[in-house]
Amino acid sequence: MSNIQSVMHENRVFNPSDEFVAQANVSGMAAYQALCQEAARDYTGFWARLARETLQWKKPFTKILDESRAPFYKWFEDGELNVSYNCLDAHLATEADKTALIFEADDGTVTKINYRDLHARVCQFANGLKSRGIRKGDRVIIYMPMSIEAVIAMQGCARIGAIHSVVFGGFSSKSLYERITDAQACAVITADAQLRGGRVMPLKSAVDEAFSLGCCDTVRSVIVYRRAACDIAWNDNNIWWHDLIANQSSECEPEWVEAEHPLFILYTSGSTGKPKGVQHSSAGYLLGVMLSMQWVFDYKADDVFWCTADVGWITGHSYVTYGPLAMGATQVIFEGIPTYPDAGRFWKMIQQHKVTTFYTAPTAIRSLIKLGGELPKQYDLSSLRLLGSVGEPINPEAWMWYYNTVGGGRCPIVDTWWQTETGCHMIAPLPGAMSIKPGTCTLPLPGIQAAIVNEAGEEVHDQHGGFLVIKRPFPSQIRNIWGDEERYRKSYFPEEMHGAYLAGDSARRDIDGYFWIMGRIDDVLNVSGHRLGTMEIESALAANPLVAEAAVVGRPHEIKGEAVVAFVVLKGPRPDDPEKAREIAETLRNWVGTEIGAIAKPDEIRLGENLPKTRSGKIMRRLLRAIARGEEITQDVSTLENPAILEQLKNAVK
Ligand code: WT7
Repeated sequence: MSNIQSVMHENRVFNPSDEFVAQANVSGMAAYQALCQEAARDYTGFWARLARETLQWKKPFTKILDESRAPFYKWFEDGELNVSYNCLDAHLATEADKTALIFEADDGTVTKINYRDLHARVCQFANGLKSRGIRKGDRVIIYMPMSIEAVIAMQGCARIGAIHSVVFGGFSSKSLYERITDAQACAVITADAQLRGGRVMPLKSAVDEAFSLGCCDTVRSVIVYRRAACDIAWNDNNIWWHDLIANQSSECEPEWVEAEHPLFILYTSGSTGKPKGVQHSSAGYLLGVMLSMQWVFDYKADDVFWCTADVGWITGHSYVTYGPLAMGATQVIFEGIPTYPDAGRFWKMIQQHKVTTFYTAPTAIRSLIKLGGELPKQYDLSSLRLLGSVGEPINPEAWMWYYNTVGGGRCPIVDTWWQTETGCHMIAPLPGAMSIKPGTCTLPLPGIQAAIVNEAGEEVHDQHGGFLVIKRPFPSQIRNIWGDEERYRKSYFPEEMHGAYLAGDSARRDIDGYFWIMGRIDDVLNVSGHRLGTMEIESALAANPLVAEAAVVGRPHEIKGEAVVAFVVLKGPRPDDPEKAREIAETLRNWVGTEIGAIAKPDEIRLGENLPKTRSGKIMRRLLRAIARGEEITQDVSTLENPAILEQLKNAVK
């Protein structure tokens, strides 16, 4: 790691306005430091105070942190609560009429729902789930478009203590099948189709296909929300959403669960072929998302909050379904895509709904700059007061545009570093406390002991690159990989790290102590702000009958952050005809789309007679990376068994 070098030199510093500081929940650096010091003085006491003040408990906890089975940590273990109660019932006495969700459909139709009605609909749906025999601890797959119903489905599960696992609607039937079987789900909640960019994209048929791929006999019910009124096949265990809730009461006593009861599982890519079922808790997770709403998003009761993430990702769990609702916020949710009907859609929506807090990903920002960098100026964006970024490091050019053109030079940007596993923001500005610089996620949240270490787990000095770790357990962190304690231990708590949580990113700190994320340390790519395992794509390619062997690497991409480049060796002869080669590459691209989902489709496939390997047969990925980037190979190739292969792969048809 000692040779990890940073190439970033960014000196611009931006301070929040006096007005912003004055109104901030954490106002000024001293206030931030006071919280950090409180955590340093009495770590568990700090979290216990916040858990008592922030969450509504049915049964208060007396135990704070149990480390006896580390790294299987338990927080607030003997306390009982219900997450859906905290998100809905908690607001009924005073805020029942307040708008909870402003849903804008793909075609622009707007539907609003207040807390009273959302509570009633969640209860009805929860009763519907119970009528199908779904109980506390059962796993439920949710495969839905962005919709009020998707939020209701998640909240409905939380209400009865069922563990949801949302599968992003862009994932294929194969991915869906794997998640259904890994989680041993008893129900799937889906829709007939989803509407995106004016197009109807089927969902229910993918569920049917998933069942045809193998045995899913744990699934007793498939609940189908009618979104597009398109034709779908119908099976015995299928039930329409509207029929399920037809005679259900709009009251449903929440299932009070232990603090550690799993709220959800969310699958994410790791460095092996099989996705990891990241298991989160109820209380610790909810505490993390609520605190970050207050600290990082500086949440105020009159905010109109908009996180553009789909509920299929962790961002959509923490900052759509749980965080904003637990705060009693009014938030925008959006079915469509940022470029339909044109690249002004986001700006038009901010103007129309008077959005105050806008949270999106660098990849979206870059594509909107490219497709209409001047468009924000045509809209009144003066309602905005805070901007956020998530998913990957934001490049300074995109940052400056976001700051000036979208934020009018007025709104702080919170660049939030976190992961599916951390549940909520870990390193991010508290916007009324610290100054910001383009490209850095700044400082850890109070209580989060982030550090940078070398391969022996020793802290490295400022300015040097190393592994990003979090030294002490924190309430919102991953509890396990579903059904795989060994993989959980190995992935996140390898022995060299002496008990610290290994995030899988490299980072450095600058002279102000600010963290700069440099990239992943494992075989994981970051495409459009989402993690894709290279092994996962390689296994998918290798499963094609044409393919003998495949290696996947990343290459920087102007909009997506990283592009997927695959080097493939065919079982049969390599075609001489470039047309034929292109045809095969296209077949394989579509194959990956079917196996995993469109997001994983390689941008480029190069066919070779072999891959560059060491004498012991290990693929030399760093050479492939250089080829993919079009760089001269200046690296050591003395251990390479078959040097001629490099020329062939360089010149291979793309
Ligand atoms: C990985 C986590 C957390 C929600 C979205 C992605 C990268 C995330 C940032 C940021 C630099 C970032 C990291 C991390 N990442 N946010 N602000 N700056 N890098 O969740 O799929 O679990 O991916 O995304 O590499 O490890 P995820």
